[in-house]
Amino acid sequence: MTARRPPLRLESLSAEAREACARARRALGDRRASPNVEWIAALTGANRRAIGDVLEELEALLPMEEEIRHRHLAAGRESYAQIRAPFELFAIARLVRPEHIVEVGVSSGVSSAHFLAALRRNRRGRLHSIDLPLRQRGPQLTRGESSVAVPPGRESGWAVPERLRERWDLRLGPSQELLPKLGDELTGVGLFLHDDLHTPAHLAWELETVRPHLLPGAVVLADNTAWTGEAFPRFAESTGGRLLRRGRSDLVGLRMPEPPPPL
Ligand SMILES: C[S@@+](CC[C@H](N)C(=O)[O-])C[C@H]1O[C@@H](n2cnc3c(N)ncnc32)[C@H](O)[C@@H]1O
Repeated sequence: MTARRPPLRLESLSAEAREACARARRALGDRRASPNVEWIAALTGANRRAIGDVLEELEALLPMEEEIRHRHLAAGRESYAQIRAPFELFAIARLVRPEHIVEVGVSSGVSSAHFLAALRRNRRGRLHSIDLPLRQRGPQLTRGESSVAVPPGRESGWAVPERLRERWDLRLGPSQELLPKLGDELTGVGLFLHDDLHTPAHLAWELETVRPHLLPGAVVLADNTAWTGEAFPRFAESTGGRLLRRGRSDLVGLRMPEPPPPL
């Protein structure tokens, strides 16, 4: 019988890594953003040391986190429906080192900024993002309007600092049109994030559309799966990959199985 490995927790990382995570969370101003180390390990296969090393790098991201928070505050967004796992996105992209990341759903660009920061440190790869922006109606965000609406005079990704945009291919329009076109242009997607229209049919369609372009070992993520029924579990089952939930949240992922080595 093999002994089960105890789950990896933030507390098991070095003091430097823990402190960098706490400071980055404060700088971004999102209390939910404490990284789930076990989830990163399960999705990437990386060990405690490697995960600690990339999370320690968050220290260098503090100016970016501050800038994103200030841009949100200046646009009247004390809270905004961003991805709740920005530091995991950074860590996963650092550990997987993908040549191509595809994300659908940008809005202000919290997820995009963390992917781009990782690609910059990787010194390789491109982020291909698709967004159909919802427009804020007037100069102020009014009651009942979604915080993901883009303020007047801005474009999707408006909170992403300019210096990070070098590796960014941002396409505006419906994913129903743009994702198949993007797929035709790409080979070898190493990381995919669904964070746009959260319906079962749409998520199932996006996963099937991106599937032929995914590399073995690619990480596939989907947020808000409480709204998308069986779409992700069915996809996971059909790939043979294990559905990995971030704690008790409905942000889920899997790692595409790798073929066994030739005999
Ligand atoms: C929750 S926000 C994305 C948040 C972003 N990932 C972050 O972490 O900051 C969802 C975005 O998806 C966009 N969207 C909704 N339906 C879409 C579609 N069919 N195609 C592309 N984008 C869509 C919305 O307008 C919005 O900008």
